[in-house]
Amino acid sequence: MAKRSLLIAVDGPAASGKGTIAKALARHYDLPHMDTGLLYRAVALALWRFGGDAGNEFEALRAVEGVHQIDPDDEELRTETVGKLASRVSAYPAVRAALLDRQRLFAAQKGGAVLDGRDIGTVIAPDATAKLFVTASPEVRAERRLKEILARGVTAHFEDVLADIRSRDERDKGRDAAPLVQADDADLLDTSDLGVEEAIAAAIALVDKRIS
Ligand code: DC
Repeated sequence: MAKRSLLIAVDGPAASGKGTIAKALARHYDLPHMDTGLLYRAVALALWRFGGDAGNEFEALRAVEGVHQIDPDDEELRTETVGKLASRVSAYPAVRAALLDRQRLFAAQKGGAVLDGRDIGTVIAPDATAKLFVTASPEVRAERRLKEILARGVTAHFEDVLADIRSRDERDKGRDAAPLVQADDADLLDTSDLGVEEAIAAAIALVDKRIS
């Protein structure tokens, strides 16, 4: 029997657990996965490398042209500096437009896919079979992010990480172009009180419900 097409959209704020959940869903349903945040991070890193100004939309757009192959193992893509810069460049409509086709093509592949980001359920794949909006309290997210940073051997303080999380939320939710918002038909998954395995099990249960 041919496999039915299954398109899963996973959105949510920084450090909500959406990436871990999206990866686990891709494994569980045997689907390709795209972390769309990496696209914006790659643009941010390209901009930073050529010394461009994140306050200038044209320079940010020029950075998009410098992004061809993205190496997901490039550690620099995961740094806080690049994350913050990504949040800034992603607010530009021209930057978003330039990255649209890549994401839509990935979502349109036969058999389906899992994409995670901020606007998957609302803009990239509004017809997705299942949409999850993964969230957690800012304090829990800051705690998780702090652990990741410390594990990389970098010094950081909870209050600073929390302030960064809050300002990133504000920017991602407050922008005019494709702001971070729960799609009307998305299922909310709050991971504040869930361990990784529990969150994954809850996500699979929500998707299964949509499939049936
Ligand atoms: O998920 P992340 O932390 O890797 O994303 C980095 C930034 O990229 C995030 O702050 C906002 C932006 N982003 C976006 O605007 N749309 C997406 N679909 C994914 C990420």
